[in-house]
Parts: sequence; structure tokens; C-alpha cells
Amino acid sequence: MRYRISYFLIICTLAVLSACSHSLETRQREDALVACHQISAAISSHSAVFAPGTLHANGPFGCTDAYHDLESSYYSESPEYSEDIEHWVSSSSQPSVCSVEPGNVEDLSKILLIIASHRVPFAVKGGGHIMNPGFSSTRGVHIAMSRFSEINYDASTQTVDVGAGLAFNDVYDALEPFGVTVVGARLPGIGVAGFTLGGGFSWFSNDRGLAVDNVLAFGLVLPNGTYTDVNESSNPDLFFGLKGGSNNFGIVTKFTFKTYPQGQVWGGTYFIRGDYLDKVNAAISKFTSPLQDPKASLMAGYTFSNGSASAALWLFYNGPTPAPGTFDDILAIPAYQQNVSTQSFASLIRNIPNTLQPGARGVFNTLSLTSHPEALLKAVVNETTFWGESLISEPGISSTYILQPFLPSAFTHGPDGSSAFPFSHRLMLPACISYIWTNSTLDALMYEVTRRSTRHLALVAEAEGQDIADLPLYGNYAIFRTPLERIYGENLGRLRSIKRQYDPNNVMALTGGWKF
Ligand SMILES: Cc1cc2nc3c(=O)[nH]c(=O)nc-3n(C[C@H](O)[C@H](O)[C@H](O)COP(=O)(O)OP(=O)(O)OC[C@H]3O[C@@H](n4cnc5c(N)ncnc54)[C@H](O)[C@@H]3O)c2cc1C
Ligand SMILES: *[C@@H]1O[C@H](CO)[C@@H](O)[C@H](O)[C@H]1NC(C)=O
Ligand SMILES: *[C@@H]1O[C@H](CO)[C@@H](O)[C@H](O)[C@H]1NC(C)=O
Ligand SMILES: *[C@@H]1O[C@H](CO)[C@@H](O)[C@H](O)[C@H]1NC(C)=O
Ligand SMILES: *[C@@H]1O[C@H](CO)[C@@H](O)[C@H](O)[C@H]1NC(C)=O
Ligand SMILES: *[C@@H]1O[C@H](CO)[C@@H](O)[C@H](O)[C@H]1NC(C)=O
Ligand SMILES: *[C@@H]1O[C@H](CO)[C@@H](O)[C@H](O)[C@H]1NC(C)=O
Repeated sequence: MRYRISYFLIICTLAVLSACSHSLETRQREDALVACHQISAAISSHSAVFAPGTLHANGPFGCTDAYHDLESSYYSESPEYSEDIEHWVSSSSQPSVCSVEPGNVEDLSKILLIIASHRVPFAVKGGGHIMNPGFSSTRGVHIAMSRFSEINYDASTQTVDVGAGLAFNDVYDALEPFGVTVVGARLPGIGVAGFTLGGGFSWFSNDRGLAVDNVLAFGLVLPNGTYTDVNESSNPDLFFGLKGGSNNFGIVTKFTFKTYPQGQVWGGTYFIRGDYLDKVNAAISKFTSPLQDPKASLMAGYTFSNGSASAALWLFYNGPTPAPGTFDDILAIPAYQQNVSTQSFASLIRNIPNTLQPGARGVFNTLSLTSHPEALLKAVVNETTFWGESLISEPGISSTYILQPFLPSAFTHGPDGSSAFPFSHRLMLPACISYIWTNSTLDALMYEVTRRSTRHLALVAEAEGQDIADLPLYGNYAIFRTPLERIYGENLGRLRSIKRQYDPNNVMALTGGWKF
């Protein structure tokens, strides 16, 4: 069942809205509603517009109380709308006036032109896994890219074209029968688009670089509605800019990735109780100093949840069995729950659990390190425990501090200036500081704790002699209001001038994210 916005609906809602007080927001919602209607009339049958609810007595924007309806009772009545605006954490979602699912490039182009002509706030959502509020959500027109779902593998060129609405695990599944894969996300559910347009740290990065080092071309609808194929030779500026520059240059419809032959892999989750954290620190610090085998990778999570600390490790080896000794120190520590085994790469990713309680809110922040000495790991344990215990009276809060070692070779696949992110290709080890909670009244407090705790760890790392002040911060983990200079560094000037050239009317400023 599809609910298209009707004339009746629009007129009815406009009548209601014009009776409301004319705040800026009210005007923007009216404009968005007009845009939704125009889009509905302009698009082909390949695309669709969805309202928050069905058309009945009191409407989705019914003739009683439009705002109340939007925010509460009618919010979940249209399944397509609900799915379109949904995110991994609910704090990244907002009730838009309508959701739009473009089904082809021509329709997407019309949609963007209509949005630009009304200058209404809009959102572009890929996999919906960004943690910053408002980066892929809006109270205006929400564009969900889910219909861009084609996967075309070309064995002769060892490349694959991937639609911008897919999650990486969809791509891994589709490529598995061909015995190949791409450099993508480490957990299931993560969108191809946001991950790749931000940088992209993968299980294969030691050998193959980041996702941005493995994109050969982008299909892009420019802010003026023109579709263009962007590659190194057709447009070196946009090619550079899209490799980390997110949604500043238009809406990406497809990615062309290099593919690599892929056999069985070893890995999975390995959860360890808090009593063993000293042993975990010793094992992780030994594993990473220095990391030796490019096939071996892990993420080391330090968690505080339900009143106690523990470790959550994600282990990976690109081969059916790890080279002798690789993970011995870690595997010698008893796990209270683990799912490490040998299987296909697609199956490994599919089987990693990665869902939250419905309604969970959350945020990430990041710092970049140069190493993981035991003293720093101790400080990480102290952070997660200190804040966990300080916040213990508030139910439903958990944190995970995830350290991500890489070899220097992860950063040698593009020289400085080859991609918007990272601006410097020296070794940077991203740490992802993740807080999850349930009650929205805690939002401001949790953002503040996440910022303070990150700052504290950066000071500890610096005091221990790590030279981190000039390392890029990863935009896909960085908390909102992180200065753009910390993410894009010396690339920022070039990015701003490319942006001015391709978006002179600043259309992409109407959507959230890191804005040049
Ligand atoms: C559980 C979890 C695990 C993660 N694991 C990893 C990991 O292993 N490695 C890593 O590097 N990162 C990881 N991340 C971070 C991840 O890369 C970012 O959250 C990323 O932005 C998600 O992309 P998305 O498409 O799902 O997000 P979305 O929220 O849909 O989009 C993110 C941003 O990209 C923009 N965007 C989306 N689609 C388009 C488009 N077609 N054109 C232009 N702009 C677009 C959006 O407007 C938004 O600003 C993880 C995140 C989570 C929550
Ligand atoms: C780059 O894009 C242009 C324009 O679409 C195309 O003609 C050309 O073949 C592409 N080059 C490569 C190397 O893919
Ligand atoms: C939380 O911990 C208590 C004991 O400390 C336990 O009884 C309870 O089952 C735990 N809850 C969850 C959700 O793990
Ligand atoms: C563990 O992994 C296997 C595949 O190796 C999968 O079938 C199973 O569902 C996973 N179990 C859990 C609890 O994640
Ligand atoms: C633990 O963390 C808190 C909060 O950052 C800090 O104030 C305290 O000094 C830390 N303690 C130790 C022993 O590092
Ligand atoms: C959220 O927190 C507020 C303020 O502390 C409280 O009044 C409310 O009951 C909480 N909501 C839930 C669902 O726990
Ligand atoms: C849109 O912008 C591109 C790049 O600046 C330009 O080549 C193209 O002609 C523009 N299209 C229209 C319709 O203005």
C-alpha cells in the first residue's frame, strides 16, 4: 500500500497551518508541504512520496491539529514513511513533513530542484547510521535513497557499481557467489553512502586502504539537478571532494568500487568480563605494538553497562585460520560469550550482532591516536568506569570506547591531497567513544559527558607523549560542532572553493552535516 499525498491533504493542511502561529518553523513546514506536493506531482511512478499517516478523518496532517498529529498519533501509521525516517539511534531521527523515495536519477534531479526552489530544509539518508542529530534527518523534506539498490559486478574490470541506498552487508552478500568483495564496513547495517563519503575504515584497510581509496567513480546529482559521472579524469576536483566530503557537493546515486578476490575468513565477537580487564589491556597493547600482520585486525571495545565494566572485542583475520600466535594472548582470556569461527566474509558480517533496544538514543565522538600503550588503555578503562559509576542512578546508559589499531600501510593508498579525508596520510588510529541512553531528557548531559571524556583522553595521550594534535579526526565518528579544520585540515580551502563552484546557491546548506 502506498499513500500518495493528495490535493485534499495539502489544502486541508495549509488551512490548518495558516491558523497556527507563523513562527519560522511553521513557515518552513508550510513550504516543505508545498514542496512535498510539487514533488508528488512531478515524479514518475518509479518514485514515491509518503506522509506520516493515512488519509482519513483527521488526516495525516488532518484538519484538527497538524503538529500534534505529526509528532504523535499519526507518526507510525505509514510504514514506508516510518522506515524512511528511521535511524540506528532514534536521536538521529526527526519527523519530516513527508518522505520521498526517488527511484531514478531523473526524479532525484527534479526533487532536488524543487527543494532548491523553495529553499526548504531537507535530508539525504543512506543507511541511517550517522550518530549526529540532524545529519541525515530533517523537519522538512526527507529523501530516503533506498530505491537506489542496484549491484552490478563486472568481472572483466574487477569492479562493482553499487546503489547509494544499500548497506554494505547487502553488497557482500551479492558479491559472495563471485568470490569477491569490496572495502566496506565492519558491522552489518552500515550504509554504503555515508560510510564511503566520510572515509571508511574496514577490516581490509591494512592491505587496501580506506573505502575512499577504493572508489573509482561516483554517480552524482549536482545541486543544480544535473547528473554527472565523477572520476579522476572526468572531474578531479569533485572526485577528490567526494572522497570524504560527504553531502556538500550534491546527492550521490552510485559508487564504483574496486573488487578483490575473497576466500574464507576467521573472526567474530569475543566478550570478556571486567575481572580480566588488566589482561585485556596487556594483550591489546602487545597485539598493537607494533601490529605486524596486515591480515590481522581487531576493534577493542571497553564497555560500561548495567553497573559493570567489561570488554567487547571484534576479531578478524583475512584467511581461514590466523597465523600462529596472532591472537593467542587474547584467546587465552576466558570469554563469557563469543562467536569466533571460520566462514565466508559475507556470513561473518551478517552474524555480528548490531542492534539496539528500540528507541535507544546515542552519540559518537572520536580522538585519533598514534599507539595503544597499556597506560592509555588503563585510562580508557577509568573513563568508561568513572562515567558509568557517576551516571549509575540514571537507568539505561551504556558506553563503549572502541580502539581501532591499523598498520601505517592503511594510510599509504593515497598521498596527502588525494582525498578530502584524511587530509594527512600519516598513521592515525581512530578511537570511537560511543554513549547510548534511552531518555531524551538526558541528551544534553550525554553530549557533554561524551565531549568531556574524549577531551580527557586526548590530554592523557598527549601527556604520555603522543603527537596527536595535528592528526585528522574522523568525520563519521566526530561529535557535532567539531571544528571542520580538525576533520579536513589543509584540504578545507580547496574543498570550500570546489563547493563554491558547484553549489553557488548553497543548496546543500539546506541539509545537515559537516558544511564547507
Ligand atoms: C554500529 C556502527 C558501526 C560503524 N562501523 C564503522 C566502521 O567499521 N568503519 C567506519 O569507518 N565507520 C563506521 N561507522 C560510522 C559510519 O561510517 C557512519 O555512521 C556513516 O555515516 C554511516 O553511513 P550511513 O549511510 O549508514 O548513514 P546516513 O545517516 O544515512 O548518512 C550519513 C551522512 O551521509 C550523507 N549521505 C547519505 N547518503 C548520501 C548520498 N547518497 N549522497 C550524499 N550524501 C549522503 C547523509 O546526508 C549524512 O550526512 C559505524 C557506525 C555505527 C553506528
Ligand atoms: C570518467 O567519466 C567519463 C565521463 O562519464 C567517461 O567518459 C570516462 O570513460 C571515465 N573514465 C574512467 C577512467 O572511468
Ligand atoms: C543487570 O545486572 C543485574 C545484576 O547486577 C542482573 O540481575 C540483570 O539481569 C542485569 N540486566 C541486564 C539487562 O543485563
Ligand atoms: C554465531 O555465528 C554463527 C555462524 O558462524 C551464526 O549462525 C550464529 O547465529 C551466531 N550466533 C550468535 C549468538 O550470534
Ligand atoms: C578517571 O577519570 C576521571 C574523569 O575523566 C578523572 O577525573 C580521574 O582523574 C581519572 N582517574 C585516574 C586514576 O586516571
Ligand atoms: C525521563 O526523565 C524525566 C526527567 O528525569 C522523567 O520525568 C521521565 O519519567 C523519564 N522518562 C522515562 C520514560 O523514563
Ligand atoms: C549545473 O552545474 C554544472 C557544473 O557546474 C554545469 O556543467 C551544468 O551546465 C549546470 N547545469 C545547469 C542546467 O545549469
